[in-house]
Parts: sequence; structure tokens; C-alpha cells
Amino acid sequence: MITAPTSKIGHQVLERVLESGEDIRVIARDPQRIPEEIRTRVEVIQGSHADRSIVNRAFEGADAVFWLVPADKNAESVYDAYLQFSIPAADAIVRNRVDRVVAISALGRGQQRYAGNISASLAMEDLFRSTGVHFRALTMPSFMDNMLRQLRFMKNEGLIRFTIPGNLKNPTVATCDIAAAASRLLLEREWSGQESLAVLGPEDLSYQDMAVILTEVLGTPVRFEQMTLDSYKQIFLGTGYTEAMAQSMVDMDIVGADGIFNALRRTPETTSPTSFRQWAATVLKPAFDAL
Ligand SMILES: NC(=O)c1ccc[n+]([C@@H]2O[C@H](COP(=O)([O-])OP(=O)(O)OC[C@H]3O[C@@H](n4cnc5c(N)ncnc54)[C@H](OP(=O)(O)O)[C@@H]3O)[C@@H](O)[C@H]2O)c1
Repeated sequence: MITAPTSKIGHQVLERVLESGEDIRVIARDPQRIPEEIRTRVEVIQGSHADRSIVNRAFEGADAVFWLVPADKNAESVYDAYLQFSIPAADAIVRNRVDRVVAISALGRGQQRYAGNISASLAMEDLFRSTGVHFRALTMPSFMDNMLRQLRFMKNEGLIRFTIPGNLKNPTVATCDIAAAASRLLLEREWSGQESLAVLGPEDLSYQDMAVILTEVLGTPVRFEQMTLDSYKQIFLGTGYTEAMAQSMVDMDIVGADGIFNALRRTPETTSPTSFRQWAATVLKPAFDAL
């Protein structure tokens, strides 16, 4: 059972799990957004995965669930966006005796700092843990794919802009690696218990390091410019985020600047293969050239 099959991570999870030949059910608000050659090979339940009747139908008989919260920008509270959104699913897990859940979450557990979307993701994890299901929280640093939001700045001004200091090294992960970790856990039946698994990419990089790599990969100068928290918040407010959801994005960056994302030591299990250079060459450059 796969939620958010049109999301950046979810569509890659679906493609990978399809190769296994397992029966797959997905929840999609608009099934037409799933490519036809895939849509015809899965059972589609049309609706939102925040809807009680939808998750109850979708989880019936499911061995494993992939859970991804879309973080609704219209929410009045970040806890509404993650925790309230997930309560029908938690009930449906209990009612339908789902065996295993793999959820997308964030790094930051144990830091004792309020961190906006991160705190709400951790609360969502705890909700699922409370159901007694076998559970893996995939705890993420920031996605390499977020850089796609900066394509126009890169193209028009030769800039990437973030609030985090340019010399602070952090892990960063490609969504293809997150999807690989999630689909492996969905297909394996041997694991049990409730644990977090970080997917940290192969190296820590600062935004200045990334600007150097982008300059080389794109063949055009790209430099880092630090933006203020207020300008950052205005970008979200300008695209229709509520005050609470825009502030939540800012709150994540405040703790990010204090190193909340690089508190975990990388191990072979948490090191995923795709480097920022590889990601930039295979995903970002084609999009940059097409702009
Ligand atoms: N970006 C990061 O750096 C980062 C870091 C750590 C964790 N995360 C977590 O990663 C998750 C986001 O993953 P992603 O980037 O793969 O997602 P995404 O690409 O933003 O996609 C979210 C999907 O959810 C669907 N959706 C939107 N609103 C919905 C609603 N109200 N009800 C049901 N479905 C809805 C949309 O599909 P349709 O429009 O087709 O319905 C969309 O494809 C979040 O939980 C975030 O907290 C992100």
C-alpha cells in the first residue's frame, strides 16, 4: 500500500516496488497524475490519505504501508499538517492489523529543540509507534532535490540562496536513495520492532561546496548567497503558505544553522550512494538546460 504515489519520493517507490510483482494498492487524489503504464498495473483508491474512509479501504488486507505526509501549506498549525493528518491512518493501521509501516520523517530526534516541520514529523512517528505496528521511520536530512527550486536563480543570477551559513557542512540525500531504502523495507518481511533509519547520502557538504560543484557540472558560475530568515519566510507567504506553515519552515532553518542535521555519525547502513555531483549531473543539469 503506497501513499502519495505522485510525490518526488512516492513515484520512485512505486516504480521500484512494481518490479517485484507484488500486488500494489495506491491512494491518489487524481489518478490521472499516475502515468498510464503504471496506473493500469496497480489498484487505485481515489481520494486523500487524510480521509478516514479512504485509508480504511486502502489498508484492508495490506501487509505493508508506505506513509508520506505532504505538509499542507494551508494548515493552521504544523501539527495539524503532520499529526492530525495522520490520525485516520493510525486508526486504520490498528483496525486493519497492518503488519509493517515505513514512513518518511526527519533527522532531529533527541535534540530537545523545537524545529517546525521536524518536530511535527517526530510527533507523527510517535503516533505510528503507539499503534504497536512494526515501524521504520526514514529520517532525512534536506533533499538534494530541493535545489531544483533554485533553478531560476541559478540560470538568471548565477546564485543559490539559503539561510543556513554557507560554510556549514551538512548531509544531503537524493530522493532516489530514499525511495531505494523505502522500497527495500516494504518488500523485506524479515524486520520487526520500531526503529529510525537515517539516509544520509555519501558526504557532508556546505552550500559553498555545492556552489563549486554546480559551477563545474553546469559549466556556468554559481555562487552561494546567504538570505535572511525574513526574506525566506516572505517567499513562502508569497506562494500561499499560512503564517504558521511559513514560520515552521523558518523554525527548521533556525535549528539547522545550529547543526541539528549533522548530529548523527554516518555508518555504512546510513550512507546512501548518490553524490551531489552525480545528482546534479543526472537530475539538475537536464532541468537547467531545458529552462
Ligand atoms: N524536502 C526536504 O528536504 C525534506 C527533508 C526531510 C523530510 N521531508 C519530508 O518529505 C515529505 C515530502 O516528500 P516529497 O518531497 O516526496 O513530497 P512532494 O513531492 O512534495 O509530494 C507530496 C504529494 O502529496 C500529494 N498531496 C498534496 N497535498 C495532499 C493532501 N492534502 N492530501 C493528499 N495528498 C496530497 C501531492 O500529490 P497530488 O497533488 O497528485 O495529490 C504530492 O505529489 C514531507 O513529509 C517532508 O516533511 C522533506
